[in-house]
Amino acid sequence: MRRRAARGRSVGSFRFLTAGESHGQALGATLEGIPAGLPLTAERIAVDLARRQRGYGRGARQAIEQDRAEIVSGVRHGLTLGSPILLLVRNRDWENWTRVMQVEPLSESEAAELAAMSLEGNRRAAPVTRVRPGHADLAGALKYGFSDVRNVLERASARETAARVAAGAVSRALLGELGIEVWSFTAEVGGVAVDPAACTRSRDEADESPLRCPDPGAEVQMIARIDEARSNGDTVGGVFEVVARGVPIGLGSYVHWDRRLDAALAAAVVSINIVKGVEFGLGFEQTRRFGSAVHDVIEGRSDEGRWIHRSNNAGGLTGGVSNGEPIVVRGAVKPISTLARPLPSADLLTGRPVEKAHYERSDICVVPAAGVVGEAMVMLTLVDFVLAKFGGDSVAETRDNLERYRATIARPPEPAGPTSPTRRLGDGDDGTEAGSGGDD
Ligand SMILES: Cc1cc2nc3c(=O)[nH]c(=O)nc-3n(C[C@H](O)[C@H](O)[C@H](O)COP(=O)(O)O)c2cc1C
Repeated sequence: MRRRAARGRSVGSFRFLTAGESHGQALGATLEGIPAGLPLTAERIAVDLARRQRGYGRGARQAIEQDRAEIVSGVRHGLTLGSPILLLVRNRDWENWTRVMQVEPLSESEAAELAAMSLEGNRRAAPVTRVRPGHADLAGALKYGFSDVRNVLERASARETAARVAAGAVSRALLGELGIEVWSFTAEVGGVAVDPAACTRSRDEADESPLRCPDPGAEVQMIARIDEARSNGDTVGGVFEVVARGVPIGLGSYVHWDRRLDAALAAAVVSINIVKGVEFGLGFEQTRRFGSAVHDVIEGRSDEGRWIHRSNNAGGLTGGVSNGEPIVVRGAVKPISTLARPLPSADLLTGRPVEKAHYERSDICVVPAAGVVGEAMVMLTLVDFVLAKFGGDSVAETRDNLERYRATIARPPEPAGPTSPTRRLGDGDDGTEAGSGGDD
């Protein structure tokens, strides 16, 4: 137990960490526990990095950066080695911030240079003290004892999510070898939601569309909401949906709170800077319906051994365990907190009100990009749970273990004895319990 606590959220031996500031030299991601023999190239990672950068409503930064991850270690001749994988995503914008973000201590002349830049009106060089409502500025500065909010916002910035997406692309490569694929789309912007019946775009078409949205009609209205926000110096949020297909029955467990896959996925998605809520499947709508209109009727086992549910309102998760249906997770994205027409706030140093909070170049809507980060967080979580259940030092070993398990659960289980805890409900047992008490 102590070992698990030391590793953080991971349920197995897999974990990942990121490093880097928004305008520092580079972002980094280290992945530990990816098995050997996985084909991996920088080109493959670049696909997801480019998807994160697109989307109507993004700010000018995306025109500067063309993210690419260098694979620095853990891969040889295109195949993973089983050793830690280190990825670096360089910040092109760093060239404009070298003095402001300098790693080494400032010499007297360098400090004077920075002060002069600030006096001449260079806003990058000036300490940030007018904290932004809705951002990490105030709590972060007080917590770490900073008098310049730049020290907070450089790491709280979602530029860090480029490193997560790079790590997520490694997870995508592994999951792909195991028959699991993960995708996301924009489900809602500024109160305009997709109509499932009008989602006429293919996955590729949606991915190429301005908002990564499968419903072209809804997308037009979403774009109008973003334009409205832009012309008012405002921002707008929405909802993304991540869908994972091919996940085997049995990832996660009901036996402990910290082994539940639903809990881990919720934490992973809420960990994305800007996500304020998570739903699975039918989500909160379940609370408005009777049970008979919520629970997914189980049809039975098909001839090929696949368990079939009539619907997927549970979003592929029951009892904290994957149930073989697609996992469907939605993330609620709040509006960006850096406004071109800033809200009133207060100054960190004086503690007095100020008319306008700090502003620096910012996005207006990031729902499509947040969806790509959502995919990454879901994939990284699935890799953790897959490796915890199936292990494997090489991809071949992991795949063999998974295939053997898939074949086993496709067959009828051995009939159990009358006292066995795994006794199945069978003929002559109608499945109802005596008494009328609840589970607890
Ligand atoms: C892809 C992406 C891009 C973002 N871009 C911005 C931005 O340009 N300006 C901003 O203020 N916040 C942006 N955010 C959100 C902030 O990083 C986030 O609101 C802030 O770190 C505070 O965290 P919280 O919203 O989880 O409380 C972005 C988030 C994501 C996922």
